[in-house]
Amino acid sequence: MKLLITGASGLLGSKLCELTTRKNYEVYSAYSQHKPLYGAPIQFDVSAKDAVEKIFKKVDPEAVVHAAALTNVDECESEKELAWKINVEGTENIAESCEKHRAFLVYISTDYVFDGEKGMYKENDKPAPINYYGLTKLRGEESVENLAEQYCIARSSVVYGSVPATGKINFALWLLDKLERKEVVKIVTDQWNSPTLNTNLADMILEVLERKLTGIFHLAGATRLSRYEFAKFLAEIFRLDTNLISPASSKEIPWTAKRPRDSSLDVDRACQTIRNKPLKILEALEKMKKEIEQTNSLRVT
Ligand SMILES: NC(=O)c1ccc[n+]([C@@H]2O[C@H](COP(=O)([O-])OP(=O)(O)OC[C@H]3O[C@@H](n4cnc5c(N)ncnc54)[C@H](OP(=O)(O)O)[C@@H]3O)[C@@H](O)[C@H]2O)c1
Repeated sequence: MKLLITGASGLLGSKLCELTTRKNYEVYSAYSQHKPLYGAPIQFDVSAKDAVEKIFKKVDPEAVVHAAALTNVDECESEKELAWKINVEGTENIAESCEKHRAFLVYISTDYVFDGEKGMYKENDKPAPINYYGLTKLRGEESVENLAEQYCIARSSVVYGSVPATGKINFALWLLDKLERKEVVKIVTDQWNSPTLNTNLADMILEVLERKLTGIFHLAGATRLSRYEFAKFLAEIFRLDTNLISPASSKEIPWTAKRPRDSSLDVDRACQTIRNKPLKILEALEKMKKEIEQTNSLRVT
C-alpha cells in the first residue's frame, strides 16, 4: 500500500512509520522540522494548501494517516492563530486533497473534544471542547466529515511510548526519568483519561487502514485512570519508588488552558470490531517495559 503519514516525526507517526515500513508498505513520512527515521521523508507545512496538493500529485497515496498537529495544549491556547492554521486549515487541506485523489483518510483526533463532565465517552456522545486545542481538533473532525469521502476519525488519549519523539519527552518517560533520579513529583489526582501506548495505537490504526474501517472509533487504552494512578502503575511496573509520587490537585498547576476533568474514552466499539484490541494498563506497561529493554540491549551490543 502506498501510504502518506503526516506528523511522521511525532510520538504516534514515528511508530506508525516504523510499523508500516517493516510491513513493506511504500511509506512517505511527512514532517515540518524533525526528519523522520522511517519511510521516505517529505517536508511540507500542512497549512500550506498548494504545498499539500503538490505532494498529493507527486505521491498519489492510496491512504493517508493525518497525525500532524500542534499538540501542545497550552501553546494552542496562547497561539490561537497558529493552532487554527495547523489543526483546522491543515486538516481541511489534507481532507480536500484526499477527496480529490480518492485516498482513504485516517484522521487522528483526541479525547479533548469532550468537556470531561461525564467520562467514558462513546463515539456518538456530543463533543463540547473546553480549550482551544480541543476546539481545533473538533473543527478538524468536521472538515474531515464534510470534505473527505472515505475516512476514519480515530480519537485517542494521553499517548505515551518507549522512545521520545519530536525532541519532546512523553509523560511516561518524563516520570520514569524523575523517579530514577529519586526526585519527588506532584501528580494530579483529579483528572482522568485513557492512557494509550503508541505501539498499541499504531497497531490498531494499521488494522483500520488494511480493512478500510470507516466512521468514528475511540482507539485508546482500555483502562480509565487518573494521572496519579497512571504514575503509580508506571512506578510499580518499572520497580521504582512509588512514595516519590505525591498527590496534587489540578488547581495547584499553573496551566494556561483548562483540562477536561474526565475525558476517558469507552473503547467498546474498537474491542468489538478490531482484532488488535485496546490494551489494559498492565498489558500496555509490560509491553512498554519490553520495548525499553530491547532498545537498551541493542545499544549495549
Ligand atoms: N499525544 C497525545 O497525548 C495525543 C492524545 C490524543 C490525540 N493525539 C493526536 O494524535 C496525533 C499525533 O500526536 P503526537 O503526540 O504523535 O504528536 P507530536 O509528537 O506532538 O508530533 C506532532 C507532529 O506534527 C508535525 N507538525 C506540526 N506542525 C506541522 C505543520 N505545520 N506541518 C506539518 N507537520 C507538522 C510535527 O512535525 P515536526 O516534528 O517536524 O515539527 C510532528 O511530526 C495528533 O493529531 C494529536 O492531536 C495525541
